[in-house]
Amino acid sequence: MDEHEIAELRNLAGLATPMALRVAVTLGLPDRLRGDGAAAERVAAELGVSPIALELLLGHLATLGVVEQTPTGYRTTRYGANLCTDAGNGLTNFLHLDLAGGRAELAFAELLHSITTGDAAYPRRYGQDFWADLTAQPHLRESFDQQMTHRFREQIPGIVDGYDWGRFATIVDVGGGHGTLLAAILAAHPRLRGQLIDLDPTATEAGHTFRAHGVDDRAQTTAVSFFDPLPPGADAYLLCDILHDWDDEHAHRILSRCVEAVVPAGRVLVVEPVGGRRAATEFDLAMLVIFGGRERRVDEFRALASAHGLVLDTVADLTDQRCLLEFRLG
Ligand SMILES: C[S@@+](CC[C@H](N)C(=O)[O-])C[C@H]1O[C@@H](n2cnc3c(N)ncnc32)[C@H](O)[C@@H]1O
Repeated sequence: MDEHEIAELRNLAGLATPMALRVAVTLGLPDRLRGDGAAAERVAAELGVSPIALELLLGHLATLGVVEQTPTGYRTTRYGANLCTDAGNGLTNFLHLDLAGGRAELAFAELLHSITTGDAAYPRRYGQDFWADLTAQPHLRESFDQQMTHRFREQIPGIVDGYDWGRFATIVDVGGGHGTLLAAILAAHPRLRGQLIDLDPTATEAGHTFRAHGVDDRAQTTAVSFFDPLPPGADAYLLCDILHDWDDEHAHRILSRCVEAVVPAGRVLVVEPVGGRRAATEFDLAMLVIFGGRERRVDEFRALASAHGLVLDTVADLTDQRCLLEFRLG
C-alpha cells in the first residue's frame, strides 16, 4: 500500500476544502478579514452565522494559507486576498454559491446522473435549466455575463489576429454576450459591419460595449433567441462558445437558423475549445454537467454540420484554448 498515493487521492477527492473556499467567498470572509482582521465571534454576529461553526471554517482556511491567526482573531493573507471581490481575477464569480459560476459548479454533486444519462445535472439540482435560471434571477445573468467577458480578456487578441475577418462585409455574432469580441473584430476591420444577437438584457448591454469601443455606427444589437429566425443576409454567422453549451438536438436547431440566414457564398464560423485539440477534460465535464453539452471533436462537428449541408473548410488553432472551424454551404 502506497500511503503517499492514498493521501494524494483523498486530497483530490475531498470536498471539504473546495466547499470551505466557496463558503468563505460567499460569506465575503476574505474582504471582511482584510487589514487587521477581526475576531470570529464579531464576524459571526455581523453575518448572523454560528460562531462555533465559523471558527471551524476559519481554522481550515488557516491551514490553506487563505487566512492567518492573529492575537485577536483572523486576518486575510496576501494569498487569500486573491479571493477578495475587487481582486479582478474572476474567482468571485466562479466560487460564490449565489452567482452563476459557483452555483453551476455545485451541479457536479449530480455528476453520476450526467454520466448515467448523458444529460445535464443542473436541471436535476435546480429544477430548471441553466438559461431559464439566468432569466429568472437577474443577478445570476449579470454575474454570468461578467464571467464571460472576464474569461475572454486574454483570448480576444488571438481570435482577432488569427483569422481574416476583413474578408467579410457583414457578420452576425450569434449569442455574442456583452459584445467584447465583436467590438474588437470591428475595431480591427473598419469596413466590416456587425450585428449581435443575444437574449436581453445581455443584448442591450452589448450596445453599451459597442459605444464604449466607438464602433456603434457599424454594430447593431437585436434581442432574439437563436432558436428563432436570425437576421438574414450576412456573409458570416459566428458561433463563439455556443454549440458546446447544447446537446446535439439543440445544436442542430442553432445551426439550421444560421444556414437559413446566411448568404449562399457565406460562412458559418464556430469558435470553441475543440475536443482533442484545445479542450481541457475538466471543462468538458463542466459542459456536460451544467448544459448537457460537450467539447465536440472535429469529426463530431463535421457530422453535425453536414446534416445542414455545411462543409468543413478549415480548422485553425487561434489561441491556446480556442479553435476556429470554418464551414461553407456545400
Ligand atoms: C457561453 S456564452 C458565450 C458568449 C459569447 N459568444 C462569448 O464567447 O463570449 C453563451 C451565450 O449564449 C447566449 N444564449 C443562451 N441561450 C440563448 C438563446 N436562446 N438565444 C440567444 N442567445 C442565447 C447567452 O446569453 C450567452 O451570452
